[in-house]
Amino acid sequence: MTSILSVVQPAAPVARRYYIETWGCQMNELDTQRMAGQLMVQGLLPTRDPREADVILLNSCSIREKAENKVYSRLGEYRRFKEDREHLLIGLCGCVAQQVGERALKRVPDLDFVLGPARVGELSEVLNRRRAGERVVATGFPAERSYDFDTISRDGLFKGMVTIIEGCNKRCTFCIVPSTRGPERCRSFEDILEEVQHLLDFGFVEIELLGQTVNHWKDPHQDLDFADLLDAVARLEGLKRLRFVTSYPRDFTLAMVEQFARHENLSPYLHLPVQAGSDSLLKRMGRGYTVGEYLPLVDALRKARPGIALSTDLIVGFPGETDEEFQATLDLVEQIRYASIFAFKYSPRPGTAAPRLKNQIDDDLASERLQILFQAQKKIQLELNSELLGQEIEVLVTGDSKQPGTQMGRTPCHRIVHFDTFGEPSKLGSLQQVEITDAKPHSLLGIRRGQTSANPSLLERPSVLPVLRG
Ligand code: 5AD
Repeated sequence: MTSILSVVQPAAPVARRYYIETWGCQMNELDTQRMAGQLMVQGLLPTRDPREADVILLNSCSIREKAENKVYSRLGEYRRFKEDREHLLIGLCGCVAQQVGERALKRVPDLDFVLGPARVGELSEVLNRRRAGERVVATGFPAERSYDFDTISRDGLFKGMVTIIEGCNKRCTFCIVPSTRGPERCRSFEDILEEVQHLLDFGFVEIELLGQTVNHWKDPHQDLDFADLLDAVARLEGLKRLRFVTSYPRDFTLAMVEQFARHENLSPYLHLPVQAGSDSLLKRMGRGYTVGEYLPLVDALRKARPGIALSTDLIVGFPGETDEEFQATLDLVEQIRYASIFAFKYSPRPGTAAPRLKNQIDDDLASERLQILFQAQKKIQLELNSELLGQEIEVLVTGDSKQPGTQMGRTPCHRIVHFDTFGEPSKLGSLQQVEITDAKPHSLLGIRRGQTSANPSLLERPSVLPVLRG
């Protein structure tokens, strides 16, 4: 017999949940935040366990083959969840989605839809079409795109990422980005400032401007370039740290360098991918600059902002790379003394020119060169970090460290610091003076020295705030 209770009591509502796995660059991270926002508007909540998700999105990266393979193995894992959860929807998003398009639906029979990076704003619509029965492929680069910064589910409470330019018009011979992210497209000066202001009003203290060639930004309607934009953004009240990624060396003008001297809140940190240390390799890579042009840029930056931390990307094992060419890369790293490097083994990508070049390099040799580079860099980083010993540095607090009683944060140069809080944790997003007591190659250790300028609006905010409202 059915009890009266079970008849009259409504069943507890079951929340629908989403799970997004993200690979790759900051643009992908931001795309994930944009997709999460749309899912929340549809009434879905996040979960950390893909097995209880109703929608799973794989936001993929195709910059190297390894990244691409990972996403397929993950798809194989997740599609099995459909055995218990028939209604589960799985979407392939990001750069692999753009690259393979329709073929992904054939290769993975349980895949529900494919969504390219330029179509992220259409996720809600694509989901609705799928629920109505269609297996959608939304790729390509439409002229009109939806971009609603008010429904981005920002990760964290103090750093906001803002896209200013999408795509890339360069033709570096190794790089797949122009075909996955499409041609360059700049947002307008007004749109960008409006979004940054929106974040600052909300209490964000750090802004990161994003683009594949971020410093190639130009306003689509007025005579304004990236130097003008930096100048305008840096002047906004409440902005403590302004950063941007990724800069293309050839497009970095002296007017941009000047901004580092003009604005203290422009973080003394710049990622400036050089890729290789010899002109012959740079030429084969199609980079359009020489080492002789790159070095004066570094000098100018160091003059404009003494102590500026530089980081770079490097590729080893590029087709035809000789011992001498590799040595030149090593020499450049020793000469410039980067605060950090991101070095990769060359990986041939479909649709690019480099796989057709002569003398592809043996994988073992490339691995060996990569290790040599990492060893050299580790020593440099330890030396550079050791120079900071005893200094008191302003640290933006980003979270707890593993050790009880310690927190972590970033110096203005973006170095990671783990510091002792003496049992009184600082508010996340606040700025604290930390004395550096120990240096490691990849981080610093320190102790907090008194409270500085904690941001009041951050202190008052609730600890969880997934979606921003205007
Ligand atoms: N193989 C290896 N590394 C690559 N990168 C881009 N394309 C490739 C490739 N085919 C590296 C570059 C770039 C960074 C994001 O990834 O160094 O700056």
